[in-house]
Order: sequence, then C-alpha cells, then structure tokens
Amino acid sequence: MTACGLDFGTSNSTLGIAGPEGTRMIALEGRHETLPSAIFFDFETHHPAFGRAAINAYVAGGEGRLMRSIKSVLGTSLIDEETLLGRRRVGFREVIGLVIRHIKATAEAATGVELTRVVHGRPVHFVDGDAAADARAEDALADIARASGFSDVSFQYEPIAAALAYEAQVTREEIALIADIGGGTSDFSIVRIGPDHAAKPDRAGDILANEGLRIGGTDFDRLLSLEAVMPHLGYRSPLLRDGLLTPNHLFVDLATWAKINFLYTPGVLADVRRLMREARRPELLERLAIVLEQHLGHALAMRVEEGKIALSDHERVEIDLALVEAGLTAPTTRERLGVAVADPVQRLATQTRDCLTQAGLRADQVDAVFLTGGSTLLPAVRGAIIGAMPGARIVEGDKFGAVGLGLTIEAKRRYG
Ligand SMILES: Nc1ncnc2c1ncn2[C@@H]1O[C@H](COP(=O)(O)OP(=O)(O)OP(=O)(O)O)[C@@H](O)[C@H]1O
Ligand SMILES: [Mg+2]
Repeated sequence: MTACGLDFGTSNSTLGIAGPEGTRMIALEGRHETLPSAIFFDFETHHPAFGRAAINAYVAGGEGRLMRSIKSVLGTSLIDEETLLGRRRVGFREVIGLVIRHIKATAEAATGVELTRVVHGRPVHFVDGDAAADARAEDALADIARASGFSDVSFQYEPIAAALAYEAQVTREEIALIADIGGGTSDFSIVRIGPDHAAKPDRAGDILANEGLRIGGTDFDRLLSLEAVMPHLGYRSPLLRDGLLTPNHLFVDLATWAKINFLYTPGVLADVRRLMREARRPELLERLAIVLEQHLGHALAMRVEEGKIALSDHERVEIDLALVEAGLTAPTTRERLGVAVADPVQRLATQTRDCLTQAGLRADQVDAVFLTGGSTLLPAVRGAIIGAMPGARIVEGDKFGAVGLGLTIEAKRRYG
C-alpha cells in the first residue's frame, strides 16, 4: 500500500514516493527526475515511446505521431473524443492513461514496490471561470488514475504542494506568495508556513489565497510563433483581392501544441493550395504547405520553444527554420517576445495583486515570493510577479521539482 505524489504536468511530469523513511523523488527517464509529458505512437512497431525518447523518435523522423501538452485537453470537450493514430481511433483519456501508467510502472520497477495510493496535483483552475467544467476535469483525471491502477486517488492544488516543498526548507514562520507558472497554467497561493505549521493536521486556515489562470508556457510559445515565425509561412500576408489577408486560424492552430495534429488532413492541405492561388506571395504559403505535408509542425514548435528559452538568457536569437527551407531563419529579440506576451503577462500581474486582496494583505506583509514552474524563468513573467510584490524576498524554487516534492510530502501526511 505504498503512496506517491504525482505531478502530471502539461510539459513535464514527476513522481515521488512517500515511504517510511521519508520522501524520495524517482528518476523517471535515465537519471532525470522529470519526464516530458510527451508520447510518440510509432505506426510501424505500434509501441508508444514516452518523454525524451518520444521526442527523439519524432525528431528522427519515424512514421508515427507525437502528442504533447495533452493535459490541456482536460477541461475541454476533447477529453471525451478520439484521435486517429495510424488506423486506430484512440480516446484522449486512454492517451493520458498511457502516460500515467508508464510513470507508475517506471517508478514501480525502480523501487520494487506497488504504488496504490496517489496524491495527484491539479491546477487551481483547469478552466477559467467555469466551476462545472473544472469539476469534470478533476473527475476525468481521477477516473484515468483509477483505470491506471491506483486504488486510492486524491488531489492537492499544485501551488499548495509547492508551498509544502518550500516549507520543508524554512526555519521560521512566514507568509509566502507561491507562484507556479508552468506550461499550461499559472497558479498562485498565499500561505502561512513554518516549522510549527507543517505538523498541523488541518492546513485550511493557513491558506490565505488560492487562484489560477489557464495561461502558461505553451501560450508564450504560440504568441512568439505568431510574432516571429508564422509571418515567414504567410501569416497575415496579403491576398490578391485588395485589403484581404490570409485567414488566421491555420497559423494559430499550427502555433498551438495541442492542435497541430488536427491540421494533418488532405482537406487542410487543399485549402492551403487554394489560398496560394489567391496570395500575393504564394512562396510564403508554399512553406506552410511543406510543413503540413511533411508533418513538421511539432519540430517547428520545438524550434520556437527553444528560441523562447534562449531569450531568457540572450537579448536576441535566430530561430532556425532550415527544416522548412534551407538557410531560412527567424531573427527575434527579448523585447519583441515581451511585447508578444504583454497581454497574458499583464493578467498574471493582476492575478498576483488579486491574491493579495483575497488574503486581505498589503504587499509589504508578504515575506517571500517563491518562484517555481519553468515559465518563471521568462524575464517578462518574473518581472510582472516580482513587480507586484516590491520588498518581498525572492526565493528561487526548484523550477521543475517543487510541485512533485510537495505532493509527495502531502502523500506522506495523508497516507503515511
Ligand atoms: N529558461 C526558460 N525560459 C522560459 N521558459 C522556460 C524556460 N525553461 C522552461 N520554460 C518553459 O516552462 C514550461 C514548462 O514548465 P513546467 O515543467 O513547470 O510546466 P508543467 O508543470 O509541465 O505545466 P503545468 O504545471 O502548467 O501543467 C514550458 O512552457 C517551457 O518552455
Ligand atoms: Mg506544473
């Protein structure tokens, strides 16, 4: 009856075991404790690959289909639909179940114990402003976890879990704002933590605010793609008829991780060919046709994501588009990324301040801001959150591990 904490993330997943001797994060792929939440269905061998291996199999050009960001399907009507994998129709629930089963089996093989109880992470909101859809998303994830072999499934909010991970390292009582900005969602909580609080059986009174938005790194990828890359493929380029531009939706979908596979149909390609005849610059749309024909959408999205990450350390980068056309690059800058993401980043700053209001606190009453989730490495995002909390100490959390560790601490507390 071993319990674990499971952070099934939009981009990365982790699992920790709550054993009698304490908590232990498990290496899920080689020596890595993170597993990219990616799955590749090989149409020849019919064996799915997971994580980095899935991405590598896709990049190597194997005949098959890559899926990423599948967590974002939770909370949408797609969760009850099917997708075509080669000749087989597979439900999205089954796809998520395959990832969860793989993580569970990997951890069981590494430790030799059967994992039966799980504390699953969940964002504060899977869906913004729709409590019923939110509850359906949690129910779907619970069903999937049970179908994957967990007999006891419970949930903890991801930012509260991160707070528990932070609490394990503080030596005195403090009020902390936890900001967890991941691939799919941004979650905030304000909590009272401290060595004396950690042992309390009921922590409800220590949670002063808990809020979230469906904004994350995949949105920043989409916005950067539309700003810097899609114009090279004909996005917003003029048609022969005066004043008309190419329609947006193809480019928006191609820039959205979870929608890329839906574009790989003969109908969409025929639309693009038709558009080429109406375009002033058909050579741009020819590139779009190549991407669709050769199923390069994920590879392109990976280049964009790499560019976004590089802009966290560099003022300017060139996104390499040689996979579409020899010698083609999309130069861009941190400043342009900042402008592209200004809108959602502004909403993050507002959400941070709303949390203070919810907690009934002034900014100067918050001792620390704990940053976790990969997207807190983005300068514009960090700037927005830190700017809303002048004076607070900034604590750099483990960007990819804090939530999973906190869920494991919670598993020990609940099932220990
Ligand atoms: N240096 C960096 N600069 C900017 N963004 C980064 C950096 N490193 C990683 N990211 C982004 O962080 C995101 C992944 O973060 P994380 O692993 O915390 O998400 P997740 O937990 O899987 O998602 P969620 O919690 O929303 O379900 C990706 O969008 C990735 O591109
Ligand atoms: Mg996360």
